Formats: sequence, C-alpha cells, structure tokens
Amino acid sequence: MRTSMHVYSVIILCAAGALFNNCAYHSGEEPVPSNRDVRYSVDVKPILIKHCYSCHTDTSTHPDRSGYAFFNDFNELKKELKPSTANTAYTILVARLKYIESPGMPYKQTPLSDSLIQVIQDWILIGAPEN
Ligand code: HEC
Repeated sequence: MRTSMHVYSVIILCAAGALFNNCAYHSGEEPVPSNRDVRYSVDVKPILIKHCYSCHTDTSTHPDRSGYAFFNDFNELKKELKPSTANTAYTILVARLKYIESPGMPYKQTPLSDSLIQVIQDWILIGAPEN
C-alpha cells in the first residue's frame, strides 16, 4: 500500500501547494530525495565541474561566462539555494536547470538530463551538506 499512500500524500501536497499557487510536485520530481546517500564531493561537484565550471569560476575566460556566481567557491554555490523568484517552490539553482527561471542553464547549451538534475535536487533535499 506504499504506492497508494504516496499518491495520496502527493495529492495532499499539491492541494496545499495550490493554495499558495506553487505546487512543488512535477512529474519526474519527488518531494523526498530518491537517494539520501548523495554526496557533494562524489556526486554533485563532478556535474558542476563538467557542465558549469567553464563559465562559473572566477578564472573563466569563456565568452559567455557569468560575471558572478563562481561555483568553485562552496559559499557562492550555497547562495543559489534561495527560492527562485520565478517559482518559489524551487531553488534558483534547480529553477535554472529546469528552465523555470531564464536563461536556463547550462547557458545556450543542452539542458542536463533529468537524472543529473535529480542528483542535485536530492543533495538539496538532504540539506546541501559539503560532504
Ligand atoms: C556557457 C556559459 C555558462 C555555462 C556553461 C553555465 N552558465 Fe550559468 N550563467 C551563465 C551566465 C552568462 C549567467 C548570467 C545570465 C543571466 O542571469 O542573465 C548565468 C547565471 C546562472 C545562475 C544565476 C546566478 C544568480 O545568482 O543570478 C545560476 C544559478 C546558474 N547560472 C547555474 C548554472 C549551472 C548549475 C550550470 C551548469 C549546469 C551553469 N550555470 C552553466 C553562463 C553559464
């Protein structure tokens, strides 16, 4: 009966979210982490290095680099975990990855796969530790 309980709780969450016009549940996104053992150093950082560091470091020379938001600094990365103004149910980081906040990231490139975005969401859901 776990599945029906889950569906039931999602309906309740969405109903509560609808009151505030920001239901956080979308297909492919679970309100609880799918992996609680996610680690920043092993799982999250390599994604950022591969897909984001070319523009998001203070030493980037990429023509489309960001002039701020240097994710090689963990404290800078944590600043992106505030709610997005585009949809407060999401952090700025995830809202950019899901193209909810524009421009979507990685900038002018193919969006990350749902499974990579899920790794980052899982990490945020467990409290975004520097583990
Ligand atoms: C090709 C260069 C490039 C790449 C690659 C890139 N970004 Fe960006 N990013 C930018 C630019 C430029 C901006 C500023 C754009 C704007 O908001 O107008 C930006 C802005 C952002 C912001 C908003 C920062 C803020 O506080 O306003 C976030 C979050 C972000 N990027 C996350 C990412 C993530 C995560 C990745 C990797 C998956 C990534 N970006 C990859 C160029 C890039």
